[in-house]
This record gives sequence, C-alpha cells and structure tokens, in this order.
Amino acid sequence: MFGLTAKNYESRILGCGDGPASFNAEASKLGNRIVSINPLYDFSGAEIARRFDEIVEPMISQVLADYDAGRAAGRYQTAKLPSLPFVDGEFGLALCSHLLFLYSEILDRDFHIAALRELCRVSTEVRIFPLLTLARKISPHLEPVQAALQSDGWQTEIVKVNYELQKGGNEMLRVHRVAQS
Ligand SMILES: C[S@@+](CC[C@H](N)C(=O)[O-])C[C@H]1O[C@@H](n2cnc3c(N)ncnc32)[C@H](O)[C@@H]1O
Repeated sequence: MFGLTAKNYESRILGCGDGPASFNAEASKLGNRIVSINPLYDFSGAEIARRFDEIVEPMISQVLADYDAGRAAGRYQTAKLPSLPFVDGEFGLALCSHLLFLYSEILDRDFHIAALRELCRVSTEVRIFPLLTLARKISPHLEPVQAALQSDGWQTEIVKVNYELQKGGNEMLRVHRVAQS
C-alpha cells in the first residue's frame, strides 16, 4: 500500500485509523517503533472482539492478541483526526489507509485539508492510500488537499504502488517537506 522500504522503518511511524489492521502488531514484533491511533481504541480488546463477533476470523484474533499489551504500552492510542495528541514532528512517517479520500462522501474537503495539515504537523512525511472513493473515482478532495499543502510549503506527489484492492486503486499520495538547498 505504501511502498515502504527498510529505510522507512528507521523512523518512528504513526498509523492513522489503523482499526483492526495488523500493521502495528507485525511491525512491532519485528522491533520497529509504531503508534496507531483510532477512536475505537477507547474500547478494550474484549469489547472490540464482541463488536466484531460475527466477523471474527484468524486475522482479527491475531491482532487482538497484540492489542491489550500494545494499548498498555501506548502503541494503540485513542485519537481522532483532524486533531492528534502529538507534538510537532514527533513521527518520521505517518500512514493512513482506507480512511481519507476513500470516504470522501462522508468526510468533506475541509475535513481532509485539516486532517492532512495535522498529519504534516506531527510527521515529517505522510502517505495516504488509496486515492479513490468507494465509487472508485479519484477523490474530489485530492486536488484541493494538494493545493493547500503546497501553499504551506509541502511537496506532494502521486506514487504508484504494488497493491491494488479496488480496481485501479494502486496509487498513494506522498507528502514531504521541500528539500532545502
Ligand atoms: C475502513 S477502516 C481502515 C482500517 C485500516 N487502516 C485498513 O486499511 O485496513 C477505517 C478506520 O478509520 C477509523 N476512523 C474513523 N474516523 C476516524 C478519524 N476521524 N480519525 C482516525 N480514525 C478514524 C475507523 O474507526 C476505522 O477503524
């Protein structure tokens, strides 16, 4: 989804809207520094398991096995875009999959701009995947978001990745500071 390389894992990484995704569990096990945020993390693993009861599958069980210990260690934190409880530049990389752009009909342009600005505040680089809405159209918020970030001094680029869940959804937005000469 994010075209990550070994070098990316040297940074402290923020996973935004990770939900029950296994990224934090798997990457932490390998010794990397990951914090995930989600409004869902207010609930204990048992409460989330109850909510997911009808769709529990091996992947969910594995992630929940990591969850309570990870939550106690501060790797899973309750937080919600567009406002994050982190200091400026606390992370080297912020990742957000299947939340921004995908839900463009529910989350409006102003929300997207505010959310991206907040991610850029807490991280020196941000990657968002995918760029398509649920209707598989390029998000109408993509251009306004890029324009806002560029006017703040950020460089934005659309990068092809080797992952495609929705047909045609194999691109991510990469945002980083313009290199100083
Ligand atoms: C479709 S899931 C994607 C989960 C995971 N990132 C993935 O790609 O499999 C969207 C997640 O975003 C979380 N979410 C919803 N609103 C949010 C917000 N304002 N800030 C952060 N996370 C949010 C939801 O709780 C849900 O877990």
